Amino acid sequence: MTSSTRGQFTSRFGFIMAAAGSAVGLGNVWGFPTQTASNGGAAFLLIYLLMMALLAYPMLVAELTIGRFGQSNPIASLRKIWTKNKFLAVAFGSIAMLTASMILSFYAILAGWLIGFGAEPILQLIGLHSLADWLVTFSTGRNVFLTVLFMSLTVFVVRRGVADGIEKWSSRLMPLLFGLFLLLIIYILTQDGAMTGLKMYLIPDWSHVNAALVVNAMGQAFFSLSLGVGAMMVYGSYLKKDVNIPKTAGQVAIIDTGVAFSAGLLIMPAMFVARANGVQIFNEVGELISSGNLVFVVLPSLFDTMGFVGEFLSVAFFALMVIAALTSSIAMLEVPVACLHEEMNIKRDKAAMMLGGIILLCSTIIAANFGLLFDWVATASTMYMQPLLGVVWAVVIGWVWHRNALLQEIKQGHPEIETTWFWKIWPWYVKFVCPVAILTVFAYPFL
Ligand code: PHE
Repeated sequence: MTSSTRGQFTSRFGFIMAAAGSAVGLGNVWGFPTQTASNGGAAFLLIYLLMMALLAYPMLVAELTIGRFGQSNPIASLRKIWTKNKFLAVAFGSIAMLTASMILSFYAILAGWLIGFGAEPILQLIGLHSLADWLVTFSTGRNVFLTVLFMSLTVFVVRRGVADGIEKWSSRLMPLLFGLFLLLIIYILTQDGAMTGLKMYLIPDWSHVNAALVVNAMGQAFFSLSLGVGAMMVYGSYLKKDVNIPKTAGQVAIIDTGVAFSAGLLIMPAMFVARANGVQIFNEVGELISSGNLVFVVLPSLFDTMGFVGEFLSVAFFALMVIAALTSSIAMLEVPVACLHEEMNIKRDKAAMMLGGIILLCSTIIAANFGLLFDWVATASTMYMQPLLGVVWAVVIGWVWHRNALLQEIKQGHPEIETTWFWKIWPWYVKFVCPVAILTVFAYPFL
């Protein structure tokens, strides 16, 4: 397939919205506040910010550059660089594609719940009480039903391609997400109890810091910037040659971190507003109720205490979560779709439907064996596979690719790059520091 027949992002704004859309997802609005709440508040925040700046951002530049150079799906892009070892290129490209699909298979279940929680107040209002209750009560049937719904939305967008699907919908949904976020934060911060939560969020409790927390923060940063699985590579391949990658990547990372930080500003205070309204937020041993429960138990009970305003807030809050999830899930599905479409010459919409169906099947298996599989799939794909694939991409950039070819690629969007600090540090940094640092974080708990 020649590059002229491939889709392309039509504007820099469109690309930033799409890439930020991929990055901003449940990792930001759900994972990050949850981890922060249970890991010493600002202590986790600071380590997370360090991981973002020192490891995730340089790797985002790396992935976007590989993709833009290749102008193709991740498998083909890697093959163009790894000319001496095409087998490894195809093998790691395929592992990335499988990991993206694996993430989507559990992510779609979570996102489905969010649709359920968002629809519940509306259904109650129009009198469909038993359907409303069913949607917010855990059952395999409900999980599968909502996952099908969410997957259909994802397939709907991806089928339409890059400019008409991904770019158009990300450019519509992301500003909506920012607006909704701002409204909710302003509202919550004016409520009783909010300041206690804010303090907990912003004052570090260092007693929580240990090796496991650092591994978590790294996994969270890689997950949040959608690294490792080829999503940023494939988005980079739709990027015009005159775009300045280090700068654009910086903007995407800042938006992503900004949204994660704001999610903390919303959720931590919301927990204490809930407590001021009589909702239980500590468990029997005095720990903060955390993980999934934070969003699915604490917040809905908070909204319940607020009458009509609460119902409105609840719909807005879950709509926000679904939007964030959708702009991420389309990036996940795009990875295998681009591979299948370009490597096997299957039409894009057919590829999107086929792969959507296969991943849905995997989601159904996970939903039917929830206790057994859900955490395992989530941890294996995000905590381990994403950073480990990051190591592989760092090796590709640093050790496989000729430095001069790399320079020529980046230079197209930034002719003076050779004179910048970025160019003096980054190639060397990705070659030596990133792989060693990522592996050390993993090895640390065993030392
Ligand atoms: N970054 C997304 C989030 O924070 C998740 C994601 C991972 C998206 C991998 C695409 C690829 O929720």
